[in-house]
Amino acid sequence: MLRRLLRIVGLVGILLPLAAVSAIPAGYEVPFPNGFRDWFAVNSMIVTKDSAMFDQIGGMHIVYVNAKGLPTLKKGGPFPYPDGTVFADDVHEFSVKEGSYVEGNKKAVTVMVKDAKKYPTTGGWGFQVWAGGDPSKPLVPDAAHAIPACFECHTPQKEQDYTFSTYIP
Ligand code: HEC
Repeated sequence: MLRRLLRIVGLVGILLPLAAVSAIPAGYEVPFPNGFRDWFAVNSMIVTKDSAMFDQIGGMHIVYVNAKGLPTLKKGGPFPYPDGTVFADDVHEFSVKEGSYVEGNKKAVTVMVKDAKKYPTTGGWGFQVWAGGDPSKPLVPDAAHAIPACFECHTPQKEQDYTFSTYIP
């Protein structure tokens, strides 16, 4: 059931159905993380075809955090992250050449923006994904869509304020 749900609404899954959404209704604004490539590079993850999550989040993930969230990340708490924290996940295609996993074109940029008052139904985080990393192509129209598309998969991470990433020295 979970697998089926994720397949329907996951990252790749929502690229198609939500692509038809032309305008994002007022009230669910999650800002594009301008300049995030200059933030702190947290970690990376490669989700290959061997992963049950490939359909949803397949690709090479490079996670960044802004200065606001960095102290909490480095100390491993205390949670929750302070308002104003932004995590960005730069998702790229990759190819395997003679055993080396090589970064390719940008697939998407996802973010989690912490604002406990603004995003109460999704753990105090605003979730958004931009197709191809294009700031004019947000795909999550409102908080209700963010729940199945993003929040449910992050919910098991509740003790870490719904984030997966940890500081790796
Ligand atoms: C199938 C499960 C799944 C779904 C669905 C999912 N994520 Fe994630 N997300 C993950 C995993 C696993 C990581 C850890 C990535 C890493 O460590 O490199 C992650 C990491 C992130 C991060 C970096 C912060 C962190 O938690 O480590 C952001 C930002 C993020 N996801 C946003 C989103 C958004 C926005 C959506 C919906 C469009 C979404 N995610 C949907 C599993 C998921």
